[in-house]
Amino acid sequence: MSRKASLQGRQHVKSFEKLGITAAFCLVLVLLLWYDILVKIALIITLLEEQNLDRNDVLISGEALERQREFEKKIQAMFATREAHPAACVDTFGCQQNVADGQQIMGMLETMGFTFTDKPEDADVVILNTCAVREHAEDRVFGNLGALTHTKKANPEQVICLCGCMAQEERVSERVKKSYPHVNLVFGPHALWKFPELLWQVYEKRKRVFSVSDEHGSIAEGIPIVREDGIKAWVSIMYGCNNFCSYCIVPYVRGRERSRDPECVVQEVRSLVEAGYKDITLLGQNVNSYGNDLPTGVDFSELLKKIDAIPGDYLIRFMSSHPKDATHKLFDTMASSTHVARQLHLPFQSGNDRVLKEMNRRYTRAQYTELVTYARSKMPELVITSDVIIGFPGETESEAMDTVSLVKEIGFDALFTFIYSPRPGTKAAAMPDPASREEKQTWFDALLDAQNEHSAAVHKGYIGKTLRCLVDGKSDDEVFPLSARTEGNRLVRFKGDESLIGQFVNIKITDSNTWALYGETDA
Ligand code: SAM
Ligand code: SF4
Ligand code: F3S
Repeated sequence: MSRKASLQGRQHVKSFEKLGITAAFCLVLVLLLWYDILVKIALIITLLEEQNLDRNDVLISGEALERQREFEKKIQAMFATREAHPAACVDTFGCQQNVADGQQIMGMLETMGFTFTDKPEDADVVILNTCAVREHAEDRVFGNLGALTHTKKANPEQVICLCGCMAQEERVSERVKKSYPHVNLVFGPHALWKFPELLWQVYEKRKRVFSVSDEHGSIAEGIPIVREDGIKAWVSIMYGCNNFCSYCIVPYVRGRERSRDPECVVQEVRSLVEAGYKDITLLGQNVNSYGNDLPTGVDFSELLKKIDAIPGDYLIRFMSSHPKDATHKLFDTMASSTHVARQLHLPFQSGNDRVLKEMNRRYTRAQYTELVTYARSKMPELVITSDVIIGFPGETESEAMDTVSLVKEIGFDALFTFIYSPRPGTKAAAMPDPASREEKQTWFDALLDAQNEHSAAVHKGYIGKTLRCLVDGKSDDEVFPLSARTEGNRLVRFKGDESLIGQFVNIKITDSNTWALYGETDA
C-alpha cells in the first residue's frame, strides 16, 4: 500500500471515531432530554392528581360525623355533675374563613354544654384559632400562649388548645411541643371536624394531643354553628387553595381546593334567609374557581344564580375573587341579579407586571384594569376593594410606585394594605430581598396617602344622598350611636332608634371622613 493510501486510511478511521463519539454524545443528549421530559410528565400527572382529589376521599362520611356527636355527648355527661355549665373562651385571628371555622368550633362546644366567655381566666377550655399569613399574626399568638401560663397555673384543670392555620405548620407544632408544655391540644384546619374526639382524648387520657397530619383536606357537612348575631352570616362554599402565590402560606396549611356541593350551599343560605339573616357572605380563597373539582358543572356564576332565586329581602356578598379566574360571565350575573350586592373584592397585589409574575399571580396589570372597566360598565355603582402587598422580595421603588399609580388609576373604594412578610416554606421566602424595612415603609406610606385621599373624596361625594343601609348594631360614637352598612359595605354611623337593628333603612348622609359616613334616618 502506498504511503498516501495508508494516510487516507488512518484519516478515515479517525473520522469514523469522531463520528462514533458524536453519535454517542447525541444519543446521551437525547436520552437525557427524554428523561427530563418523562420526569416532567410524571410531575404534571402527580400535580393534576393532587389537584383533582377523589370526591369520596374528600367528603367525611355521615357515620364519622355521627361519631363526633357521640363524643360531644360524652363530654357533656362528664360536666353534668357540676353545678355551673363549663365555659369556653374562643379567640379567633385571621380571615373570615377562620372566623367561620371558629363559629363551628363554638357550635361543637355549645352542643357539649359550654357557655362562652371573653375572659381566659374564667374558662375551662381556651381556644386560640390562629392565622399564619404574616409573621406579626404569629408573634401575637405566641405572646397570648405565653400569657396563658398564668391562667393555667391558677386553674391546672384548664384545657388550652391551639388550632387554625398556624397549628398546621410543622415548625409551629414542634415549637409548641417543646416550649409550651401547658398547651394540651393542637389541631390544624384539616382536623377541625373531629374536635370533639380530640378534646375527649385530652380529658380521657390526660395527655397532650397533636393532630396536625399533612392531608389534602376534607369537607364535613352538618357541623353545628354558633353565629354571633341574627343579621350577618359567613358561609364557606369551598376550602383550600391551588394557586400557590409565591408569598403565601395558605395553600400549605389549608390544602387543595374542595368545593361544597351546590345543594348544600343553597340549602344553608335558604335556611339563613328563612331565619331572618340579611347579609350573607360566601367565602373561599378564590370563589371564582368554585366547582372546578365538582362533576356537577355548576360554576360560581351558576351557584350565584341558584342562590339569587331564593325569595326574601337579603344581600349576598362573596370573597375573595382571584382576577385570573374572574370572568365577564360573573359580572353579567351580578348585574342581572336581585340579591347580589354591587360590591367586589378583587385583590390585585401589585401594579407591576414583573412583580406580578414573580408573585405567580398569572394576570397582568392590563388584564386587571380590563376586568374592572368591564365590571364598572355593567354596574356603574359597583364598590371595589382590593388587597395590596408592598415590598415583595426584589421589588424596586419604581415598581412599588407602579402599584401606587394603579391605585390612583382605578380609584378603589377601600384597600387592605400589607408590607410583605416572609413565610418560611414559601418560594418568595428564599428570594433575595435587598430593600430595607425603612424604604418599604416609605413606599407603603405613599400608597396609604394615595388611598386615603381618594377614600375621603369618595365619601364626601355621598353627602346629601339618601342610601339604603342594613343596620347591623350599635356604634361607639355617642352622637351617632347606631352602625349600618351600605350595599357596597361602607360603614355608616347614624342617629336612630335601637329597634332598627337588623332592618334595612334609608339613611340621609350628612357628613363623612376617610373611614365612615355619618347620617340620620326619619324612620
Ligand atoms: N385568596 C385571596 C386572594 O388571593 O385574593 C387572599 C387571601 S390572603 C389570606 C389575604 C391577603 O393577605 C392577600 O391578598 C395578600 O394581600 C396578603 N398576604 C398573603 N401573604 C402575605 C405575605 N406573606 N405578606 C404580606 N401579605 C400577605
Ligand atoms: Fe394565597 Fe394566592 Fe391562594 Fe390567595 S390565591 S390564598 S394569595 S395562594
Ligand atoms: Fe385565613 Fe390566615 Fe389561614 S388569612 S386562611 S387564617 S393563614
